[in-house]
Amino acid sequence: MNAKITATAHSTPKNVMTNLDLEKLVDTTDDWIRSRTGIVQRHIVSEDEASSDISTRIATSLLEKGGISANDIDLIIIGTVTPDHFTPSTAALVQKNIGAKNAWGFDLSAACSGFLYGLETGANFIASGRHKKVMVIGVDTMTSILDFQDRDTCVIFGDGGGGVILEPTLGKTGIVDSILHMDGSGGDYLIMPGGGSRIPATLKSVDDRQHYIKQDGKTVFKYAVKGMADVSERILSRNDLTGDDIALFIPHQANKRIIDSAAQRCGISEEKVLINIDQYGNTTAGTIPIALNEAFSDNRIKDGDYVLLASFGAGFTWGSILIKWESK
Ligand SMILES: CC(C)(COP(=O)(O)OP(=O)(O)OC[C@H]1O[C@@H](n2cnc3c(N)ncnc32)[C@H](O)[C@@H]1OP(=O)(O)O)[C@@H](O)C(=O)NCCC(=O)NCCS
Repeated sequence: MNAKITATAHSTPKNVMTNLDLEKLVDTTDDWIRSRTGIVQRHIVSEDEASSDISTRIATSLLEKGGISANDIDLIIIGTVTPDHFTPSTAALVQKNIGAKNAWGFDLSAACSGFLYGLETGANFIASGRHKKVMVIGVDTMTSILDFQDRDTCVIFGDGGGGVILEPTLGKTGIVDSILHMDGSGGDYLIMPGGGSRIPATLKSVDDRQHYIKQDGKTVFKYAVKGMADVSERILSRNDLTGDDIALFIPHQANKRIIDSAAQRCGISEEKVLINIDQYGNTTAGTIPIALNEAFSDNRIKDGDYVLLASFGAGFTWGSILIKWESK
């Protein structure tokens, strides 16, 4: 039994930080950020806002759009690397906030691949036949782990997220294939060293700025292009499809140059590639569900279309999911 997406939603904080705002914080320029990444602005949380607040808005909107009651939700999966707390999970906070009294759930840590890992996990719970309605959210509040003294990282990320409701379908539609990967040997290239059991929070760890995300941008760039392109090519070929058969390619929004290179390698023409990194920056687990909701709301996806999702993130984690769209 396949899982199909029956509702999509997204939410980003109201506050917007432009590249010009960043020029006042670090040694950077609007021109450098636009030309190297494609980013023009990003949304950032207010002081009293965290990942569960964004997720609760997404969850409420999913219930409304799907025309379903909170009591109908069996499972809540939240892909995030910026939960409100280590425990309780963000999923538990959302469960309480929306009153989903029959749901269980958990947070899932796969960085920028968090939403794809969540979709695959949710789809398997649907396939088991034991869950009828699964809520999958990808959300991150990256500003909570960004070092605004480190221009290599602080200019590329933003806050926000999106989600979907998964339900069973008996057709050969919905999520028709997925390939997911992990390679822990890439871990040090994109890492938040402190805060876990390896380097618990101390005055020294804070002084040493260990609680911020750090990256080797050039290495991540190289692996991201290869990872997203290879896995997308592979999922197309094993389903006897080419780039021409894809109605919409929704890649993780990390850098416009990464997206362009990956799409080119898969033979997917420019007009079929969803790019909104200019508006949001890299919202980590949030990028793909935000883009998916925008595309669906703008009628860029219709029943029968093949939609290809691809991600790459810290871990390293990466993957591709192929959907033959059926919304009702
Ligand atoms: C981070 C990234 C945008 C940097 O772009 P790049 O073209 O590789 O730039 P480089 O690192 O070669 O830096 C080029 C120059 O710009 C400078 N620079 C770096 N960040 C800068 C910034 N924010 N503003 C201005 N200059 C900057 C560098 O110091 C370097 O200067 P130098 O030539 O004098 O040494 C790019 O590597 C990238 O997007 N990597 C992937 C990151 C990512 O996606 N992470 C999340 C994964 S999901």
